[in-house]
Amino acid sequence: MTYAAATLIGRKQSQSGTGFQPARVAAKKPGIGSAVISYLLDHPYAIYAFARRFWPIVVIRGWAFISRYEDVIEVLKRQDVFAVPFGPKIELLNGGPNFLLGMADGADYRALHELVANTFPTSDNRAIVGPIAAEEAEALVMSSRGRIDAIEDLVTRVPTRICERYYGVAVPNETRFAHITIAMSTFMFGDPSNDPTVRDEAVKAGAELRPIIDAAIAGARAAPAGSDTIAARLVSAKGADGAPVPDETIRAILIGMITGFVPTNTMAGGHMLEMLLRRPDMMRATQAAARADDDELLKRCLWEAFRFLPLNPGPFRECAEDAIVAQGTRRAKRIPKGTKMLVSTHSAMFDPRRIERPKAFDPGRASHNNLTLGSGIHWCIGAPLAEAQIVQTLKPLLLQRNLRRAAGQAGRLALDGPFPAHLVVEFDPA
Ligand code: HEM
Repeated sequence: MTYAAATLIGRKQSQSGTGFQPARVAAKKPGIGSAVISYLLDHPYAIYAFARRFWPIVVIRGWAFISRYEDVIEVLKRQDVFAVPFGPKIELLNGGPNFLLGMADGADYRALHELVANTFPTSDNRAIVGPIAAEEAEALVMSSRGRIDAIEDLVTRVPTRICERYYGVAVPNETRFAHITIAMSTFMFGDPSNDPTVRDEAVKAGAELRPIIDAAIAGARAAPAGSDTIAARLVSAKGADGAPVPDETIRAILIGMITGFVPTNTMAGGHMLEMLLRRPDMMRATQAAARADDDELLKRCLWEAFRFLPLNPGPFRECAEDAIVAQGTRRAKRIPKGTKMLVSTHSAMFDPRRIERPKAFDPGRASHNNLTLGSGIHWCIGAPLAEAQIVQTLKPLLLQRNLRRAAGQAGRLALDGPFPAHLVVEFDPA
């Protein structure tokens, strides 16, 4: 099926109510699991501190909550026992093979990891991703003339354009594309209650994204030699066996590196900005770094703000066999096979047993203090890309004078499921 035909079908399905409808997900009231998670993220300190001190390994009704730094690191390291539960959902939406965050360690995982790392070399971030982000963000901020929806029209828009310009994926409708990827990410990584509406919409979103990706692969095969997009690199790459990479693997990589990108960077960039607007001390330090044109310090400021309001309380895992956490200590606890686990990297980042002055805003912190990008084998492979894109996207906004929330509801962070959707800010145009 051609891309145009697929888009037409998607549009018709959507008009007739059978296609992906972002409003159904956005309008959904959060299930109890999701409600607890949002509450934790916004009111973290007392609950985390209580858990770490009095009940560091909670096991209750098929769920475990891990809150101390060393136990969080232990669980994320023991990936054979405390396994990633995302594989079946990833395969469903890929319509094919699994991708990294759904896989256990092993030869297949390592070969795929290497292929992805070679296709997205870190040198690209300074040479390609950063400059595209800077150019797009600068144009968006400047054309806003002092009032911009910093999420939809900046923080989400820039990664979407990078999917076009760097990945080589033609995006028919930027806003809808972002909603599709957000619906898929919500289902795969942020839906502990397995809500049927979230699943239904994610399946439809996947059905709309796959032809877009297939068209990018076909376009890359037909492109003249020398075109250098991610899609072009993948169609000429060789797998570990020396054979060309099958189309369904290329599709899984592109879908994985898009659904890991647009939604995640929307949430990260949105949470960073929200935190800066909440805390004038953080805003002052971060704007000073932007004005000094010190990108390394700016990155540190943004990621330190993000430590306070990360993606989520922590990643999910599922216990593959009966196992003990914190063996040999007084808090050691047996986790029964099948237990779902919330491994709270957010709590760990505020554990005073391991983190010095955890509540202080300190951009100079050692890197092990910041677990926002995970820990262990599944540590974020997109981290350097995320850093380049987010720093260069927020920088032109942070350079503006008198940056502030818009008055009223518009200036408050509005969500689409767990993801930031809108936040209007204003500044004094030069
Ligand atoms: C600031 C933005 C980002 C944050 C905070 C973030 C966070 C994370 C975290 C916490 C994990 C580990 C999840 C777990 O252990 O369950 C992870 C893994 C991953 N991330 Fe990111 N991420 C970001 C951006 C990106 C980008 C831009 C991409 C792709 C371009 C990406 C692709 C991935 C992939 C593929 C994995 C799985 C790696 C593996 O299993 O080996 N992420 N990310």
